[in-house]
Amino acid sequence: MSVLMVAILFSCSENKSTSADTVEEKIDSLLSVMTLEEKIGQTWQVSGTSPEIVQAIRNGGVGSLLNVTDPAELNAMQRLATEESRLGIPLIIGRDVIHGFKTIMPIPLGQAASWDEKMVEAGAAVAAAEARSTGIHWTFAPMLDVSRDARWGRIAESLGEDTYLTGVLGAAMVRGFQGESLSSPTSLAACAKHFAAYGAAEGGRDYNTVDISDATLHNVYLPPFKASADAGAATFMVSFNEISGIPSSGNRELVTDILKQQWAWDGFVVSDWASVMEMIPHGYAEDAAHAAELAMNAGVDMEMQTTAYPVHLKELIEQGIVPMEQLDDAVRRVLRIKFALGLFEDPYADEQVNFDTLPAAHLEVAREMATASLVLLKNEANILPLNVQSTRVAVIGPMADDGYEQLGTWVFDGEERHSVTPLTALRELVGNDRILYEKALAYTRDTDRSSFAKAKRIVLQADAAVIFVGEESILSGEAHSRADITLPGAQAELIREIKSAGKPVVVVVMAGRPLALKEIEPWCDAILYAWHPGTMGGPAIADVLFGESVPSGKLPVSFPAMSGQTPLYYNHKRTGRPADPGNFTYMEDIPVRAFQTSLGNTSHYIDAGYAPLYPFGFGLSYTTFEYNALTCSDSLLTADGTLQVAVKVKNTGQVAGQEVVQLYVHDRVGSLTRPVKELKAYRKILLQPGEEQEVSFGISPEMLAYWYNGEWITEPGEFEIFIGTNIDNVLGCTIRFTE
Ligand code: GLC
Repeated sequence: MSVLMVAILFSCSENKSTSADTVEEKIDSLLSVMTLEEKIGQTWQVSGTSPEIVQAIRNGGVGSLLNVTDPAELNAMQRLATEESRLGIPLIIGRDVIHGFKTIMPIPLGQAASWDEKMVEAGAAVAAAEARSTGIHWTFAPMLDVSRDARWGRIAESLGEDTYLTGVLGAAMVRGFQGESLSSPTSLAACAKHFAAYGAAEGGRDYNTVDISDATLHNVYLPPFKASADAGAATFMVSFNEISGIPSSGNRELVTDILKQQWAWDGFVVSDWASVMEMIPHGYAEDAAHAAELAMNAGVDMEMQTTAYPVHLKELIEQGIVPMEQLDDAVRRVLRIKFALGLFEDPYADEQVNFDTLPAAHLEVAREMATASLVLLKNEANILPLNVQSTRVAVIGPMADDGYEQLGTWVFDGEERHSVTPLTALRELVGNDRILYEKALAYTRDTDRSSFAKAKRIVLQADAAVIFVGEESILSGEAHSRADITLPGAQAELIREIKSAGKPVVVVVMAGRPLALKEIEPWCDAILYAWHPGTMGGPAIADVLFGESVPSGKLPVSFPAMSGQTPLYYNHKRTGRPADPGNFTYMEDIPVRAFQTSLGNTSHYIDAGYAPLYPFGFGLSYTTFEYNALTCSDSLLTADGTLQVAVKVKNTGQVAGQEVVQLYVHDRVGSLTRPVKELKAYRKILLQPGEEQEVSFGISPEMLAYWYNGEWITEPGEFEIFIGTNIDNVLGCTIRFTE
């Protein structure tokens, strides 16, 4: 550490306490001696360690690195920063640790299917412990983009289509990553991203235009970010997209007025990769200098990867186009997080760290999370669970034994060699002699049907077929949106061919999005949705298939029957002509030369109806649950009151099972039209066979509020309250709110 830095750090106070005041005093002292170039250096994050970057680090011209993961290399860069630069300010090292570092958890969309915030927090904590040990301090997660369009590749990284669930689980990830203290050797600074409304891209096409109302922005897309800010997220990342004509990287109202002022949030904001310079192709910035001006004045404190800040900020400050106060605030925010992370004490990595063997405790977290993420969508005649003592299984399909593809998108550091595939796990569970195997397709997009006959032959030797299909990991994630979200390649034909063998067919789907399964559904006796389940996906799937575990996952997204139904989400508006199950005609039933009539003119598709194949919140178990006796403590709710709504839930089956009891509300009439239902609370409970529990929820005026014309309001009137096992299967009551 440079002599000057030592003097500064200890000039403020004798003790090394990192109390907020002391830290602010240290930052004041640093700012007072920093040159303009050194201040600008703190606002620049760059990928790699080229000779130019190394020299810039020596000059104090770099605040952060990303995509550098070798501990020895990171330590070398830290030594340049702390021992050779004039002030010795350490680097903050960022990395996309999205759903695991070496031990890979299910993709976030799969984690959301667990509806288990404690488990999601535990998964993030495992990722943080592994990554921090290698010298990484900061992860670009959680991704909090509410995702209503299954065509969008990044739905895989999201926590689903619901605002409330995304907020609860996103905050749990922040807590898991950041732990009790950012300075802990097992903590990472979190990054709430992509701020904001990236998931509203038109057509589900990545990076596409977002054009939404202020009400939709505030009621649907911002609350999960507020929840993460309240949970203490150290950083935010702005999104690539525009919102109604203004790219987020230049949106001062979003980044400064709302995030930094209204929410009183004191972390720092980083751009998303080249999003600062992308304001030029957006047609919002004239050139790089203008992009730097727009971004810094909007409140983007650090530029990732591109060089608008290091090249142009100096002259913008000297010309007064960017106020020095704006730059000072950005630098203050960056230094605040570096102090909180303890980087001035110890920014170094453990060069001996080794991940040849993953910690058993981490693998157990991954296995439990993968098990909890599995959603049983169909189980005709209770074909599942299979009999672990006797069933002979033909395992078929491209996803049965692919340790790379099961990890999913955004896996930079996870290694295939650690994966336990379903085939391996099934053989371990029931023995090699009762597991037959034929891949049949080399990968999910494969259309070579030449092995189908061989696959069918082994099915004829078995009691049941389990077919593992889905998407390779690269078919979702950034820049990988699909217009047709059916099974790729010849997978559907494979299922049909195997079904023709006349044995029970179980289909396990591993994918990064809800797939449109209408065509294959009739050929499946059971469907188990596994998302991309991560390192321990195999044992989790094997345990559920053979009843060692009971499925408990619930859908965090609606499943379209057909691609053309997207975007499809449960909390939609009623419209003036709500879709009516009893009042529309499917295309094939419309008489030839039918006269143009208004019959059936409700909001639906004549070739797909309007309903999802599987609704939000849906998921089967190996037991059954009965809901009854919904009670409401009062039918009147006043502005200073609360009331209780309760229901009795009974396990009416033969095995213990977990159930996610969901609470929805519907505001009947509003100054703005309101969604047909909105999730406002849930409770995951375990019930033994025959056990009954009363589950109650408090209803408060705040729970019924929505954003309208700049404020959150709860308007007098009737509200329907629903409690149930999924969005379509609920008990309800009506209350009235009066001021
Ligand atoms: C990418 C992604 C963002 C990621 C960043 C750094 O383009 O949009 O989510 O964190 O760049 O890799």
